Amino acid sequence: MRKHIVAGNWKMNTTVPEGIALAKAVVEEGAQVPADVELIIATPYPHLYPVAEVVKGTRVALSAENCADKEKGAYTGEVSVSMLTSVGCQYTILGHSERRQYYGETDEKLVEKVKLALAAGLKVILCVGENLEEREAGKHFDVCAAQIKNVLYNFTAEDMKNVVVAYEPVWAIGTGKTATAEQAQEIHAFIRKTLADKFGAAVAEETSILYGGSCKPSNAKELFAQKDIDGGLIGGAALKAPDFIGIALSF
Ligand code: 13P
Repeated sequence: MRKHIVAGNWKMNTTVPEGIALAKAVVEEGAQVPADVELIIATPYPHLYPVAEVVKGTRVALSAENCADKEKGAYTGEVSVSMLTSVGCQYTILGHSERRQYYGETDEKLVEKVKLALAAGLKVILCVGENLEEREAGKHFDVCAAQIKNVLYNFTAEDMKNVVVAYEPVWAIGTGKTATAEQAQEIHAFIRKTLADKFGAAVAEETSILYGGSCKPSNAKELFAQKDIDGGLIGGAALKAPDFIGIALSF
């Protein structure tokens, strides 16, 4: 059985004290969530160290939102995978559309990042998804397939044990416009098939594929009821513990 996961991506929100308070609330309210749902919070870099103290020994896992594409050295402003593991991170999000769109993150760079993250023992949440223009042109399958192939096809079935895929249609992120459950299911199944083509059906069946994009307590149940949707990557609604936990209670 593949894992159900609800991950909060805080993006560039909250100060460190606010982040500590939010993490404490997630830990506390997360106690209601069935044990088979994994809870993850992905925080800005400065928050990781103090938030690691809050989530230590609890069911809540800690994630970064990005990492450097180099191991170490003269790369001013970057944060390496060994820095992330040294503060207790278990995951990193990679390839978020905001990074692809605003910071020139390419599939080539992502291959390097995924390599470094996995080698350091971090699990990776790799984001894929089309923008509105691509969706309207009916190119969403091609775009997602290319992102999966360009990045994940460079890895092995063994590596895939530590990879989660998040489908996040760019037109649904922060817009209040959620993909319908049918739209999401259709592309999740396609992503799973794309994984199966390279890694085999068993690996594809074991890989958790999350939906992200205006997911909230009111729509999570319908999304999570779909066969190939294994949870959510949550932005805005992850900034309020009751909403985030409300989503996690939707399985
Ligand atoms: P929203 O939930 O705010 O639409 O953001 C989704 C997202 O980008 C999570 O990574």
